[in-house]
Amino acid sequence: MISELQERFYLAGTASVFEGAGGLPAVQLQGTDGSSAVVYLHGGHVTSWVDSSGHQNLFLSEQAVFQPGKAIRGGIPICFPQFGAGPLPQHGFARTTDWQLDHVGRTHDGDAEVLLSLTESPQSLALWPHRFRAELRVCLGARALGLHLGVLNTDDQAFSFQVALHTYFSVPDISQAAVEGLRGVAFVDSLRDDQRFVEDRDEIEFQAETDRIYASAPDRLGVVDRAAGRVVSIDKLNMPDAVVWNPWVEKAKRMEDFGDTEYLRMVCVETAVIENPIELESGGRYQGGAVLTVSSR
Ligand code: BG6
Repeated sequence: MISELQERFYLAGTASVFEGAGGLPAVQLQGTDGSSAVVYLHGGHVTSWVDSSGHQNLFLSEQAVFQPGKAIRGGIPICFPQFGAGPLPQHGFARTTDWQLDHVGRTHDGDAEVLLSLTESPQSLALWPHRFRAELRVCLGARALGLHLGVLNTDDQAFSFQVALHTYFSVPDISQAAVEGLRGVAFVDSLRDDQRFVEDRDEIEFQAETDRIYASAPDRLGVVDRAAGRVVSIDKLNMPDAVVWNPWVEKAKRMEDFGDTEYLRMVCVETAVIENPIELESGGRYQGGAVLTVSSR
């Protein structure tokens, strides 16, 4: 299967298919500026984004499991059609399902891009009885990575869903990292009985487990790495909510596919639609995403 994909989807200097961890097929994108990204078909999951300075912007656990039916710990899992716990498996089934590779190419702007899609299957229909088509476009540009997610209702009934791009940012030292852009935003704190509070800090720092859903957050957030003088901006596209998560000491120990001290090197800032799920009529289309851009400060 991988050799067939390699023949069909190859663009010299731009994109190639390779056998990734666990023997799973993955696409490597190459930017014109020396940047690169890796997208697994399993989950439509971006696992790596190295910018032109050679910096890896995404955290991937050394204990991540690359196996059908398992979500990869790190990178950018896609939570769909459910965020968190609920009637479906945690964070939905998209992150544990193989997506189809539809296209690789280079855009007019010079970005390397890959298009993947996911449609209903007997397994998904057993969990969530709706016909749909999800389309993911990942594009790698100058110091930027874009994820654009479309969901089309191909059913004859309306359905609703939640979605999140569950981005794990790599930070060299969590004590030097902060998330900015959330001051004044109301959040639900999963660690305090889902009570609502309002964020009063300009920069959120990490000294303990953090697990919060910020509702209707501004469209630009930032992950600041003070040690390196870098910031990764997150431009949310039609994804009003944001989740900030770090498991810290005890939860890290409980997670089998996460090293005990890896919480020191990551923070998740997720762009999401959680509070008000998207309602799609038959034939309706949702389009959202996030653009991540690196800059120095
Ligand atoms: C976050 C949730 O989005 O995902 C956390 O807010 C959860 O509560 C985390 O622990 C990781 O979830 P999972 O299913 O990948 O272990």
